[in-house]
Amino acid sequence: AGYFTYDPGFLATASCESAITYIDGGNGVLQHRGYPIASLANEADFLEVCYLLLNGKAPTKAEYDEFKSIITNHTMVHEKLAHFFQGFLPDAHPMAMLCGVVGALSSFYHSDLDIDDPAQRMRSAHRLIAKMPTIAAMAYKYSIGQPFVYPRNDLSYAENFLHMMFSVPAEEYKVSDVAARAMDRIFTLHADHEQNASTSTVRLAGSSGANPYACIAAGVASLWGPAHGGANEACLNMLEEIGDVTRVDEFVKKAKDKSDPFRLMGFGHRVYKNFDPRATVMRETCHEVLEELGVTDPLLDVAMALEKVALEDPYFIEKKLYPNVDFYSGIILKALGIPTSMFTVIFAMSRTVGWISHWDEMLTQPGQKIGRPRQLYTGEIDREFTPLKNR
Ligand code: CMC
Repeated sequence: AGYFTYDPGFLATASCESAITYIDGGNGVLQHRGYPIASLANEADFLEVCYLLLNGKAPTKAEYDEFKSIITNHTMVHEKLAHFFQGFLPDAHPMAMLCGVVGALSSFYHSDLDIDDPAQRMRSAHRLIAKMPTIAAMAYKYSIGQPFVYPRNDLSYAENFLHMMFSVPAEEYKVSDVAARAMDRIFTLHADHEQNASTSTVRLAGSSGANPYACIAAGVASLWGPAHGGANEACLNMLEEIGDVTRVDEFVKKAKDKSDPFRLMGFGHRVYKNFDPRATVMRETCHEVLEELGVTDPLLDVAMALEKVALEDPYFIEKKLYPNVDFYSGIILKALGIPTSMFTVIFAMSRTVGWISHWDEMLTQPGQKIGRPRQLYTGEIDREFTPLKNR
């Protein structure tokens, strides 16, 4: 490998030091700033987790109230930004709109481009956490031809998002407690996950000194793929393709067939090889939501049958392939009436705090260098060039 270590997919490379999130994949441990994810999911709300990730400590009541008020006061977007949507075709994927519109935020907040000022960096973090749900809901409303719904500052973060998604001018959407709680949990369980592909993308983009909005847009792009944040959408599409409980075995067989590229979406994880601690919490919420909302949907039956087979089948047990967080979050979102095309958008909204916390941490680290991986060159060398007329 010459002078460099060859590590495709970075299976054995730590790209940075970080004090934000701790993962012990073998033992299914995930902690944010030292707090186990299950405690955070059960005892904190998403904005508390945002504060914790950004500031390194859990907020006091006064700090929480102040933080909530700051976020709430930044939820609106400039009317000119709203005009951006008119340029998209109505059938554009909401992730495509998100990539473009988030990057465009850099053209509105010139003062946030001063990334050397910690207070300014925090302001851009607040703006991003506050505006992502507004932009996400706008993308959805635009895609179904309904007018945008403005944020309501008296609602919680999760309630406000559901309000902007589902209210129409003629009728305010009544957000149920179950739906708000489930939504908040989905946000919390996706808030950060150390150096995954999108977070590494944000850090790499930020290492060149790029502005926060451009970096987060890069994160959104990286998250979109089906092996990462796109898995929740791919999982629901797969359940639709299976269609009926009687066909589950056929698809499980396909997933085990090495000559078939098909994989069960929502199963397996690069780091968690025993269980995904987020999936454990999400599974509980999933069963609770289905029961409390009394949702009946044949796809949910397919999902439950698939979960059972995968947990019992020797192939999945041996390869340590368990349902991951996106398997359950997809089912919950479906039960809440959220369209499949919005699933990855919701992941992006939730992960924004993680991305921006890592970006901020990186910029405070002494001796921070531009990220610049090397390669193993496999092409030809020292060839003699023939001018075009002689070729
Ligand atoms: N269905 C069937 N077989 C699988 C699956 C699956 N979902 N995932 C892995 N395998 C097999 C794979 O074929 C390989 O078998 P073999 O050893 O015989 O070649 C073995 O398990 C190891 O797989 P790998 O691809 O080397 O593992 P990885 O750590 O590189 O990939 C993964 C992890 C998540 C990309 C992969 O499990 C996968 O593609 N899962 C489906 C997509 C998905 O749900 N992604 C969301 C991840 S969680 C949310 C997030 O972090 O974004």
